[in-house]
Amino acid sequence: TPTVTPAPVRNDAVRESAFLKACRREPVPHTPVWFMRQAGRSLPEYRKVREGIAMLDSCMRPDLVTEITLQPVRRHHVDAAIYFSDIVVPLKAIGIDLDIKPGIGPVVEQPVRTRADLARLRDLTPEDVSYVTEAIGMLTRELGSTPLIGFAGAPFTLASYLIEGGPSRTYENAKAMMYGDPELWADLLDRLADITAAFLKVQIEAGASAVQLFDSWAGALAPADYRRSVLASSTKVFDAVAGYGVPRIHFGVGTGELLKPMSEAGADVVGADWRVPLDEAARRVGPGKAIQGNLDPTVLFAGREAVETKAQEVLDSAAGLEGHIFNLGHGVMPNTDADALTRLVEYVHTRTAR
Ligand code: CP3
Repeated sequence: TPTVTPAPVRNDAVRESAFLKACRREPVPHTPVWFMRQAGRSLPEYRKVREGIAMLDSCMRPDLVTEITLQPVRRHHVDAAIYFSDIVVPLKAIGIDLDIKPGIGPVVEQPVRTRADLARLRDLTPEDVSYVTEAIGMLTRELGSTPLIGFAGAPFTLASYLIEGGPSRTYENAKAMMYGDPELWADLLDRLADITAAFLKVQIEAGASAVQLFDSWAGALAPADYRRSVLASSTKVFDAVAGYGVPRIHFGVGTGELLKPMSEAGADVVGADWRVPLDEAARRVGPGKAIQGNLDPTVLFAGREAVETKAQEVLDSAAGLEGHIFNLGHGVMPNTDADALTRLVEYVHTRTAR
């Protein structure tokens, strides 16, 4: 682990926020809440400012990033902001020809399939993403006592887009490389770990108070394959930012069977989706880590009573935990009613007020 200077904490109020206390497994005034994809199409004010601006272009405009990141904080009173960007932004920044297609996701013009293709993955420098540093500077001035979460895609999930060339249900090309050419696979994930670590460092040094590593699609793997072929690269990312002392969160969808190996990668907080009750998730993760999750995002379509019943189930399953951060089990879906989210934040805050 490299020694680095601890990241500057913006102010005492941020340090003592419910979100950062929960990450550190300290007593909290209320259970903190934020939502993956809290900024986005569920908000009319988001749709308005994004009109006519492509997703990746919006990520490179500090004024827009600042406004979009603040929108859910203003509206829902969530306990943390998450930096508005996308997991493919650092790949775009090093010159990979990719786009984010509306309703589809990231699409890579020339997929990475051979050893020669690895040469296209050069190191990321802070200058490549100077707009990130600028946006976080603007954001931290606006956020006051609200912590800012930085994020990046984990090597496996980034590799899945690079190798498949876009979203996939089966990951057949990615898995073909993983099983068939383990040396090339390991070298690719190691390259991506360096790029991801560099991207997280930029965000922390600019003022992010925590970071989340999204290994969204790791749930496609068996635990033994995760350990053999993925764990080392995600561990490298977490090790690279350990010295800053900012909490590190690790999350993937459908990772119930991977919670143990994923937690070995080194995060301080482990997220679970709705398929695993949080008390069981905590057992699988083991001691010393906070737990984040895990309301099924589709519950928000079911009406107020159902939302409260299911949110209470999440709170009950987390009652014995040291360190719980309330979240959805995956991102907010685009058609979600924004008011249902605001009411959910209020419900969790009220029910857990101590
Ligand atoms: O509020 C936040 O959570 C911050 C914003 C955020 C975005 N992408 C913005 C975005 C975050 C944290 C991400 C991460 C991301 N991107 C992940 C990991 C999280 C997860 O959902 O598992 C993944 C797998 C991606 C790749 C990606 N980018 C997908 C699958 C999509 C959806 C495609 C679509 O149109 O439905 C994107 C595009 C994207 N990233 C949008 C947003 C708001 C939608 C595009 C738009 O609004 O025009």
